[in-house]
Amino acid sequence: MDETALQHALTSTQNLGEMPDADAVGTVGSPDCGDMVRLWIKYKEKDGRKVIDKASFQSFGCQTAIAVASIATELIRGKTKAEALAMSAEDLSKPLGSLPPMKIHCGQMVEGALRAALEAESKGQGEGGGETRHQAGQSGTLADALNLSGKTQGKVKIILNS
Ligand code: FES
Repeated sequence: MDETALQHALTSTQNLGEMPDADAVGTVGSPDCGDMVRLWIKYKEKDGRKVIDKASFQSFGCQTAIAVASIATELIRGKTKAEALAMSAEDLSKPLGSLPPMKIHCGQMVEGALRAALEAESKGQGEGGGETRHQAGQSGTLADALNLSGKTQGKVKIILNS
């Protein structure tokens, strides 16, 4: 893994925080380590195509997951849903170089949250474009979902939109 790229991604994290007007949201937790990522997507029409206007994320996870999520939310901008779905965890973490074996699931978790958001949105088509949740009970922030808002428990690290 490219440590310089990792540090850069962490010191200039992009698109961190909840997106209240998002079209879709997806959340995935890793059974390997208990970390979680939530990703919001907003679409727009461009040249007759529906593309991702912007994306944001919250992470309840390790630095690698935060870095990949930050990079991924930039990489998918301007892409169609199909183009974004075609991106693998490897594609999403490419600027960080090859992830070490213990960190591969971090990128896969971001890919999972992205897929969940993309698929949640498609289920919502025909419903007036309203917000669609990946599953019930995800209306609050990630910390709300975990009932940990504003708290740090043990080694848990919560990244919140301030
Ligand atoms: Fe589990 Fe990175 S997401 S260690």
